[in-house]
Amino acid sequence: MSVEATGAEAMVNTERYPVGDLDSKPGIALTKTCREEFVSSGLCILPGFIRSDAVDELVHEANGALEQAYFCDSTHNAYLTDTAPDLSSEDVTQHQESTFVGSVAYDLLADGGALKRLYHWDPLKDFIAAILDKDPLFRFADPLGACSINVFVDGGQHGWHFDESEFTITLMLQQPDEGGLFEYVPQIRGLDNEKEIVQGVLDGNRQGVMQLPFTPGTLLVFAGNQTIHRVTQMRGTVPRLVPVLCYAENPDLVNSTEVRKLFWGRA
Ligand SMILES: [Fe+2]
Repeated sequence: MSVEATGAEAMVNTERYPVGDLDSKPGIALTKTCREEFVSSGLCILPGFIRSDAVDELVHEANGALEQAYFCDSTHNAYLTDTAPDLSSEDVTQHQESTFVGSVAYDLLADGGALKRLYHWDPLKDFIAAILDKDPLFRFADPLGACSINVFVDGGQHGWHFDESEFTITLMLQQPDEGGLFEYVPQIRGLDNEKEIVQGVLDGNRQGVMQLPFTPGTLLVFAGNQTIHRVTQMRGTVPRLVPVLCYAENPDLVNSTEVRKLFWGRA
């Protein structure tokens, strides 16, 4: 995957986030703050990370790619595991959530486009590596899932779940008219009362549920396997657009055939 990252630095608000110069004093301070936020809360929220003119370019590009989104309409439990008929109907893993979401695959994005230029900009990868404390970190080798755009249209939602992957990087681009809110209960995986909390969340208990405001241009680094989360059902004609940037600790890592078929309809 050799894509030019030309001009990517100009897309990022480097005055506020000096990611191009992480060895400088402000760069070291930024990394420290972000790392601490990620460790203590399970997510690092970077509002205004992308400059507004670059947000406009990314939004324009993503809206132009919408028609190529593949939609997945399915149900799953919070742990994304197969149904187990031998478990009691009361077991938390028997509860099914609904998900209706589209995704524009990496190979459908323009090579010289804004999103690919950003994704291929090494300082962004190195900054994320520092937040995650993963060195080295690589761009994901999957030809469909390396970097993709999540698309929610009228009725779209992503039910409560923990991610399979340890971390996820998303970029808020376009907010829908109504709904489409990212909600989460941070860092509950592995707690003694994890199942109780999950059951409560699935039953609609709002205790501990947090909402992340949707502000275009915000970058989010998120430990999705520790924090149960969802996207509430959205309504309206303005699609909710959120690119997903994937990185891995292994340079050859790709998705399974099953995952590719589920999210992009092809292997
Ligand atoms: Fe997720």
